[in-house]
Amino acid sequence: MHQKILTGDRPTGSLHLGHYVGSLMQRVALQDTASQTILIADMQGLTDNGHNPRKVADNILNVLADYLAVGIDPERTVICLQSSLPALAELTMYYANLVSVSRLERNPTVKTEIAGKQFGRSIPAGFLSYPISQAADITAFRATLVPVGEDQLPMIELTNEVVRKVNQVAGKAVLIECRPLLSKVPRLPGMDGKAKMSKSLGNTITLGSDEAEIRQAVKMMYTDPNHVRIEDPGTVEGNVVFTYLDAFYPDEAYIQQLKRDYRHGGLADSRLKKILEECLQETLSPIRQRRAEVIDDKARLISILRSGTEKARLETEAVAREVKASFGLDVLG
Ligand code: TRP
Repeated sequence: MHQKILTGDRPTGSLHLGHYVGSLMQRVALQDTASQTILIADMQGLTDNGHNPRKVADNILNVLADYLAVGIDPERTVICLQSSLPALAELTMYYANLVSVSRLERNPTVKTEIAGKQFGRSIPAGFLSYPISQAADITAFRATLVPVGEDQLPMIELTNEVVRKVNQVAGKAVLIECRPLLSKVPRLPGMDGKAKMSKSLGNTITLGSDEAEIRQAVKMMYTDPNHVRIEDPGTVEGNVVFTYLDAFYPDEAYIQQLKRDYRHGGLADSRLKKILEECLQETLSPIRQRRAEVIDDKARLISILRSGTEKARLETEAVAREVKASFGLDVLG
């Protein structure tokens, strides 16, 4: 079956290496085989930046430049902006009446995020309900396949619940269910070994990082704290340098050999880090170059986003109109 793909990112910072292995590489490959849309989810970005909308606004073109830099081709992938697609907000309002607050509170990803953000008792209503808006995104494009990280699986589950409820209320199949497409590379940890990579924690390498920043980041990387002398046996599990080598180094057999040597003892952290640094410099250098080329041409970026958003507007309006009509609310047409 021909797959219709929707993915998206909140524009709250430049994209980083975690995004690159987790989803961007996959999106570049998918644009040849399926019809793909990427949504810059600025409205979702506002759900935890409601009082600082500038942060979100300022990152829209940054994220777009990241897409182009890694090789997403606007001729083959539609790139669009959530806040300029009112049909998504309209669908969100319809769906919000079919999902209970307790269902939203059970979402494990949202739960973890809420705990991390220290909202206290002031959880924004928009934040708690962003999975509903994500269901609107996915269904508005009639997506059949959603490439996501594992943390997004609860969103897919909720989306399919909403699809079934809407179809039940409408008495016919207005919307279609979707499947997640998990990336083969597991989530990259931050350079300090923390599970979450984020710019605010300062433990990430963004796609526009320069040579010195990459060098510095690798130097700071968490290895095995008990690997003190070169000849000591070292631990590979949880060693961030190895996790990154697994994700980025093309020659797997060579990495297996390095792991054996490291476990045995005699392989220095500095040597490992040098191998990783060279590999990351090589990976990021063409991306940084392309990024620098596109980021200065604001007019071109705007025009790419505008034409993608116009295409998306027709598509999403048609779905919103159908849902509305299926509820009998098309009294005025
Ligand atoms: N929730 C995603 C993130 O955290 C972004 C997103 C918004 C998304 N709408 C989407 C992802 C639709 C896939 C499909 O980055």
